[in-house]
Amino acid sequence: MPETIARETLFLHNAEMGLGAWAWGDRTMWNYGHGYTDTDIEQAFQTSLAAGVNLVDTAEVYGSGRSERFLGQFVKAAATPVLTATKFMPFPWRLDRGALMRSLDHSLERLGLERVDLYQIHWPFPPMPVEFWVEELAQAVKSGKTRTAGVSNYNKTQMQRAYTILSKYDIPLASNQVEYHLLNRTVEKNGLLDRCKELGVRLIAYSPLAKGLLTGKYSNDNPPPGLRARIFASALKDLPKLVSVMTEIGQGHGGKTPGQVALNWLICKGALPIPGAKNARQAEQNAGAIGWRLTPEEVQSLDEASDQFTK
Ligand SMILES: NC(=O)c1ccc[n+]([C@@H]2O[C@H](COP(=O)([O-])OP(=O)(O)OC[C@H]3O[C@@H](n4cnc5c(N)ncnc54)[C@H](OP(=O)(O)O)[C@@H]3O)[C@@H](O)[C@H]2O)c1
Repeated sequence: MPETIARETLFLHNAEMGLGAWAWGDRTMWNYGHGYTDTDIEQAFQTSLAAGVNLVDTAEVYGSGRSERFLGQFVKAAATPVLTATKFMPFPWRLDRGALMRSLDHSLERLGLERVDLYQIHWPFPPMPVEFWVEELAQAVKSGKTRTAGVSNYNKTQMQRAYTILSKYDIPLASNQVEYHLLNRTVEKNGLLDRCKELGVRLIAYSPLAKGLLTGKYSNDNPPPGLRARIFASALKDLPKLVSVMTEIGQGHGGKTPGQVALNWLICKGALPIPGAKNARQAEQNAGAIGWRLTPEEVQSLDEASDQFTK
């Protein structure tokens, strides 16, 4: 770990993996209500917590607030502490000072909490500049309603601007949450991952299973349902070759699944994966990605096998 890691962000650096809660109530991408129930979601949470995965990532926009409500319900009933991360969406009609703070208040209401552990700006969307919302984020930390401040989908330059603004207030930039998985290694190639490490910013890897593709259960003959089939249309053809490398490597670790290998590869890269889980079985499998490590040679083999997707 670099020396620059701030004490208040250590909980993120110490976490091996988190749990993504986008699918909890979302119909657009995940078709909530079809194939998984509220009970399934609750069991996904409980199974994760029992396995030591206690950091949960949500957002005000997930399921139009339903995801935060579910999480709030589960946290209230949980026997052990839960670390909560949520996000502010800078919609183009949100233009006034105070908008971020009001959104945080609404998130806290839905979560039934007095503060969250991490509050993130979901996207660096215009029209307001990065500085405008990060100034607001600093105020959110000062108010005590969030323990730490993070960003999401920020490139290197935007992240540096956020870092600089927060530094004025002596607040560390805790994290940058971006897409990162074996089918998308942009953050390695554009230097964002390295810059995060230099600054002590935790890189949180979203869609770490490439929305389920890296579990190996989808193929050209069995494409994922809904929007995902379109997003990953070109990857499906060559996926079997990569999955067979992942399967072989997993076998050398007592029969780890391709999904577990995909998540462990991210951990080995120094990222914090936050796989989504819709039920107990998925949560349990995903939790099997922690507590062990691929060898550097295996990481290298996976790099090579995934290169064709990432050029
Ligand atoms: N900041 C952002 O802009 C942003 C964007 C995207 C995601 N995120 C965050 O990242 C989290 C994870 O990303 P994601 O949900 O997009 O994708 P993901 O974690 O790569 O994939 C999750 C999906 O894969 C399938 N799955 C998960 N575990 C499985 C297992 N063990 N076996 C078989 N299938 C399994 C499930 O869908 P099926 O069962 O339907 O296949 C599940 O909903 C989100 O929940 C959210 O918190 C953030």
